[in-house]
Amino acid sequence: MNSIFSVEESKIFKNEEVLFPEYLPELLPHREDKIKQLANNIFPVSRGRKAQNTFLFGSPGTGKTATTKFVFREFEEFSERVKTIYINCWDYKSAHAILSKIAYELEVFVQRRGMSKDEILEKLIEACKKTNKGLVVCLDEVDQLVFRGEEALYDLLRINQYMQNPVCLVFISNNPNVFVDVEPRIKSSLGIEEVEFKPYSLEEMKDILQERVKLAFHSVEDGVVLLAANHAVKSGSDVRVGLECLLRAGRLAEQENSNKVKVEHVKRILSSIKPVKPRILKERISEDERVVLEILEEKKELFSVELYREYCDRVGSPISERAFRDLINHLKETGLIRIKKLKGVKGRARIITPKL
Ligand SMILES: Nc1ncnc2c1ncn2[C@@H]1O[C@H](COP(=O)(O)OP(=O)(O)OP(=O)(O)O)[C@@H](O)[C@H]1O
Ligand SMILES: [Mg+2]
Repeated sequence: MNSIFSVEESKIFKNEEVLFPEYLPELLPHREDKIKQLANNIFPVSRGRKAQNTFLFGSPGTGKTATTKFVFREFEEFSERVKTIYINCWDYKSAHAILSKIAYELEVFVQRRGMSKDEILEKLIEACKKTNKGLVVCLDEVDQLVFRGEEALYDLLRINQYMQNPVCLVFISNNPNVFVDVEPRIKSSLGIEEVEFKPYSLEEMKDILQERVKLAFHSVEDGVVLLAANHAVKSGSDVRVGLECLLRAGRLAEQENSNKVKVEHVKRILSSIKPVKPRILKERISEDERVVLEILEEKKELFSVELYREYCDRVGSPISERAFRDLINHLKETGLIRIKKLKGVKGRARIITPKL
């Protein structure tokens, strides 16, 4: 019996993986100036000198993470005296978790339990002295950390007091105002330079996708890149949207045994491709937060008291009203909901709507 699976090489894909969002390309068109700026800022670390802390901000899919990872990769290759560490604050949410992660990256043994922050700090500093390496630490999605308080930032700054080679910090967020409410003393010690990542224009998006197309496909009809780029720009200029269009169109072309990716394939999948960032965030939020979003997506708009009541009805063991307020603030901070305050309506003051 013939297998239902094809054993033939793909006629469509040369390398599908270059279309995956986690793929880090060899080239980042239209981010050359940002790459240079970040590289200049962190460069002194390789000379054992104090470097410029940097804050990269801008809307989703504008290349902030990719630029940082790109510069970090090159920097480690360039200098033996440098250790770069990338941390996503969705995965490491406290000062303790972040310090443990840095220790782990420096191959410092930290017991899972029972080690205080100060002990970890001490070990970290010792390890840095021993290896004589300068540290560059990126805290991506840093709003998730600052939202919980300033302790972690303070601890990172504390490392600098004891080390000859100061730690250089790179912060990333969609929210340009992350540091607005941070205590002035901490803010000024951070001495951040801000770098804005503006959304890509249609022409820029086309160039970026074109580079990926060359690596991903054997053959592509004229107009495919333009259509994908246009959809990406219209959905907020997130490159991930364009990449997903190309990937899905490629898969459709393959299913239909076509000899190339055609405009028609892109047209057929286009309307099913929505902004990517909300989906990424929804995978990261807690179960309770997911229930709240589900309710809001159904009801569109609710007073916070009504929302809490509805939430309690739906889950087995609901969190307290106090904790619920924190949860709502977290969803707002993450950009998934809007809160409207009504003046003069006592007890019913907050109206919540889903943002996306
Ligand atoms: N200039 C570029 N050239 C090539 N690929 C790019 C460029 N900018 C972004 N990309 C690609 O787009 C995708 C999203 O980029 P990235 O993760 O850096 O966005 P981001 O700004 O960090 O977004 P978010 O704020 O949602 O985290 C990645 O796959 C990345 O490789
Ligand atoms: Mg990112």
